[in-house]
Amino acid sequence: MNKRESSNLPQHIAIIMDGNGRWARKHAIGRIRGHRKGAQAVRVTVRACREIGIKYLTLYAFSMENWNRPGEEVKGLMSLLEEYLDKEIDKLHKQGIKLTTIGELDLLETRVKDKIRRAKELTKSNTKMTLNIALSYGGRDEIIHAVKNIIQDSKVKKIDINKETFRRYLYTNNMPDPDLLIRTGGEYRISNFLLWQIAYSELYFTKVLWPDFTKEQLLKAIASYQRRERRFGMTGEQIKNNKRIFK
Ligand code: IPE
Ligand code: IPE
Ligand code: MG
Repeated sequence: MNKRESSNLPQHIAIIMDGNGRWARKHAIGRIRGHRKGAQAVRVTVRACREIGIKYLTLYAFSMENWNRPGEEVKGLMSLLEEYLDKEIDKLHKQGIKLTTIGELDLLETRVKDKIRRAKELTKSNTKMTLNIALSYGGRDEIIHAVKNIIQDSKVKKIDINKETFRRYLYTNNMPDPDLLIRTGGEYRISNFLLWQIAYSELYFTKVLWPDFTKEQLLKAIASYQRRERRFGMTGEQIKNNKRIFK
């Protein structure tokens, strides 16, 4: 990336990694093998984001609704997750990447939960990039979870509840909202992902199936982001006259 390209980078990229099943069908192999190829694309994307200088990368790995898939597929996805953690965590750590998760982890098996806990513990002081995995995650579930926690918090008064206090009760309380949301696989929907946080994210949809997603695809999405004018409800003139309020 030259100087111009590396300015105005999205600070936080979120990705709905869709299309593993169709990739598998296209190559006449089973869905799990498609997911395995998808895990390879995760490795490539994490490394690329780290190299480019993205600070937060949130990957939608398993939705709340994905629990309704056939048991065999759920099992396969969970073992791929374990394999990913086993093989990658030292490499992530060496690259200065901190691993975090969002979602209802209590629904996962104890062995998987333990691996996630250990991976988070190992990488908790890393500062180069945060790799945030959405796992057993649903946007509506997250909002309900936040509401319940607010009600339980006796220190919070009704008058104090506003957008800023509310966001502190979300799973993503320690990171900025995504600047860029990418969805692979050709569907134009959000599928219950980060409903609160994407209020002003730039959206990028591509037909490329997730296992075929490469660093070039990522750079294309970032370039598209960089060509856009984020207006946040204001006029184009206001933005041009007052660029500094977004920095
Ligand atoms: C995305 O790929 C991975 C997960 C949802 C876990 P899919 O498995 O949804 O792939 P398609 O949509 O069937 O092609
Ligand atoms: C969204 O993909 C969830 C993940 C990528 C983990 P899905 O394939 O589950 O979404 P729908 O069912 O097409 O909306
Ligand atoms: Mg899908």
